[in-house]
Amino acid sequence: MGLSTRIIEILKQTVGGTVDVSGWVRTRRDSGSFSFLEVNDGSCLANLQVVVDERLANYESEVKKLTTGCSLRIQGQLVASPAKGQAVEVQADSIMVIGWADPETYPLQKKRHSFEFLRSIAHLRPRTNALGAVARVRSTLSFAIHRFFHEQGFMQVHTPVITTSDCEGAGEMFTVTALEPGQLQGANPFSGDFFGSRAGLTVSGQLQAEIFALSHSRVYTFGPTFRAENSNTSRHLAEFWMLEPEMAFCDLAGDMQVAEALIKHLVAVALTDCAADLELFDQFIAKGLIEKLIQVRDRPFVPLTYTEAVSLLEKSGRSFEFPVQWGIDLQAEHERYLCEEVAKAPVIVTNYPAAIKPFYMRLDEGGRTVAAMDILVAGIGELVGGSQREERYDVLAARMAAAGLEPEQYGWYLDLRRYGSVPHAGFGLGFERLVQFVTGMQNIRDVIPFPRTPGSAPC
Ligand code: 4AD
Repeated sequence: MGLSTRIIEILKQTVGGTVDVSGWVRTRRDSGSFSFLEVNDGSCLANLQVVVDERLANYESEVKKLTTGCSLRIQGQLVASPAKGQAVEVQADSIMVIGWADPETYPLQKKRHSFEFLRSIAHLRPRTNALGAVARVRSTLSFAIHRFFHEQGFMQVHTPVITTSDCEGAGEMFTVTALEPGQLQGANPFSGDFFGSRAGLTVSGQLQAEIFALSHSRVYTFGPTFRAENSNTSRHLAEFWMLEPEMAFCDLAGDMQVAEALIKHLVAVALTDCAADLELFDQFIAKGLIEKLIQVRDRPFVPLTYTEAVSLLEKSGRSFEFPVQWGIDLQAEHERYLCEEVAKAPVIVTNYPAAIKPFYMRLDEGGRTVAAMDILVAGIGELVGGSQREERYDVLAARMAAAGLEPEQYGWYLDLRRYGSVPHAGFGLGFERLVQFVTGMQNIRDVIPFPRTPGSAPC
């Protein structure tokens, strides 16, 4: 039986009953004729205290040799704990050692380890308090995303991982090939390859999600995406999970409403369902985290056009590393200034210059800007990137030609505008950035179980 918070709650009501639990030893302390074990099975932050009497048959031979990391099965009586720190404890009737952990080599000892060190042991770090809590928050948020969209009448679409369309057009696709490096030659090196043309790992499921939005109205896709961008920052991964809703009969304003409601809902779920884990983060990782999240849940986000945002940045008197002028792509330092210092709330920046955004975004009147929106949050910068899509055939065809896209490769995308085209919009939310935002973790490599970054793909 697992020691989930829920089960401990139930156990509290059955004090006096027999329990049968399994988990890993966090610590052992001996006092008089007893050993006190702190045991955790990962289902919640709290450890279970197990009191072992020296009269147990294997007390000297095994219990006294238990160290951090050993796995156990414990049978005993659940009793109210006389000591401070826990409501209940287990008085062991039997301790069965399932697996030993050599203390000479087991890398997780009672002291606090740096996150850098823990990254080097990706196979053991989920057993620590912080990384264990991150994993639980991540799972809770993932489930809450599916529930939110299900309850709002969205249909989930499984978009492909291998694709021939580079949605963002930024040339950051990892190539997928079945050929050996030496075989990739000639004018059309992929013609003899597995797919007969160049294929890659998806950078976004958006284009395929649009297909289903234009048949099922409200859809979402949520899965891994890949970018071969050489960004060694605390906010970038080469493999990350993206949530992408896509809505037909929807404009930019509708898109912004859904994104704001979603983020508020997810923050609210974390505050209630992950309360103990968030307290850990608030205490040890990011002081004031819970208060910040409550404000995000309760206060409206602040909309700003790109032009307004640039003007605020220009007037800020700040000397940014990247100088500001109309037309630049906003950098993390600009994004953070806007939400941390100007709005003191998440900011939704809209109507970016067309020249810095992908071909699929709807051109605004005048043609200088597009109906784009990015949601910026404190500590992270861009959490969401979205837009109303260009639904006008002629305008889209011209933009695709200007972007140098092959008409035969994207004919299907234009077809969606030839037959029953409708205004539609969507966005992409970077799931790891959301987990960072909710937990206060500084580095994105610590909120995904197995981070992939330039030069590193352990496990
Ligand atoms: O702004 P992006 O590039 O948008 C798209 O890919 C659109 N096709 C989404 C859509 O409209 N359906 O990426 C969306 C979000 C960003 O706001 C950011 O949170 C996250 O994905 N993101 C990354 N997260 C981690 N590592 C990276 N390298 C990321 N690149 C983007």
